[in-house]
Amino acid sequence: MKVATIVGARPQFIKAAPVSKALRKGHHIEVLIHTGQHYDDGLSAIFFEELELPVPDYNLGIGSGSHGAQTGAMLAGVEEVLTQEKPDWVLVYGDTNSTIAGALAAAKLHQRVAHIEAGLRSFNRAMPEEINRVLTDHLSDLLFCPSPTAVENLAAEGITGGVHLVGDVMADVLQQTIERARESSTILQRLELKEQGYLLATIHREENTDDLVHLRDILSAFNQVEETIVFPIHPRTRKALARLNGSVTLTAKLRLIDPVGYLDLVRLAQSARLILTDSGGLQKEAYWLGVPCVTLRDETEWVETVGAGWNILTGARTEAIVDAVSSFRPAMTRPALYGNGKSAARISYALTMTK
Ligand code: UD1
Ligand code: UDP
Repeated sequence: MKVATIVGARPQFIKAAPVSKALRKGHHIEVLIHTGQHYDDGLSAIFFEELELPVPDYNLGIGSGSHGAQTGAMLAGVEEVLTQEKPDWVLVYGDTNSTIAGALAAAKLHQRVAHIEAGLRSFNRAMPEEINRVLTDHLSDLLFCPSPTAVENLAAEGITGGVHLVGDVMADVLQQTIERARESSTILQRLELKEQGYLLATIHREENTDDLVHLRDILSAFNQVEETIVFPIHPRTRKALARLNGSVTLTAKLRLIDPVGYLDLVRLAQSARLILTDSGGLQKEAYWLGVPCVTLRDETEWVETVGAGWNILTGARTEAIVDAVSSFRPAMTRPALYGNGKSAARISYALTMTK
């Protein structure tokens, strides 16, 4: 079986790592296509090295741009490669512009599309990701869902064929890496941090970076928190901070650092007292690691983490964030969510068995 894997952004490198490993174990041929959506070493190369992903067979080098320009360039580039390679399956991940470009190019070439992390919904069409995931699901032949809720979301849109509940490949990669992160990451020493002695924050959603009122309100909350906050800054957020033009003075407890690799991130996450984030991936990692999470959004696709009492939604509201940091206490129990870390093997098997 020949599989074309399309990746382009940080979370996709992480998700593709265990699946790529499972495909190689099954002696399948994988053609790895990197759209070039993320290109800084700290957002791209470091994940290939740390997670032992093969060097991409193609790097389309598309880079940044408006949604239309970026997605359009990817569509043309991916189409050319898929026409040449003629894979049995095209694998796409998550909800980025690389995802929709890959799915659309493949579907128009009558190549079969498999979507990993299918069925997630925020029910907020103002998010570019929501548009990408809805369209990708409707173009896919195989839909790999991380949760029963995702299966139900698809059924509500009339998609029932080709749907497989397999769990989340991010659980696979976390399980495979957690010990290595504890042993090899030196980030706590480098930043002079103590276990449970700090909070970890990440922000990168368009709604929190391009809307400067939201960004200012979140930073005001961070300023009011008395604990140290380690804040690896996504380049989109760094640019947004520059646009604030010094109108918010950041306190010394806020430790702004460059984006970190996966091993350092896992190390930082597992030892944090609490996580503040608008990331999809980090909400789940917080849950799996048993760290309470404050989500800086008004809705989440990962509703089970909220239902289980480990995640709270505050949006970008200053007071709600400050209150949550001081008073949110997670539930006593933490039921298993999103599979058991064996999703990649299930995906590889389903691809092989679907004629
Ligand atoms: C993208 C995804 C988002 C995902 C996130 C993961 C879309 C619409 N968004 O958001 O769903 O959660 O990746 O991190 O696909 N930039 C750099 N260096 C890079 C890459 C980007 O400086 O290597 C800067 C550029 O100014 C760019 C901006 O970051 O315009 C945003 O990058 P882009 O890939 O468009 O979106 P993300 O915010 O990263
Ligand atoms: N991550 C990382 N370094 C960072 C920030 C995040 O390795 O500096 C990891 C994080 O652990 C998670 C993934 O990147 O596994 C999530 O990516 P991101 O937040 O960019 O995207 P999202 O999940 O929101 O699509």
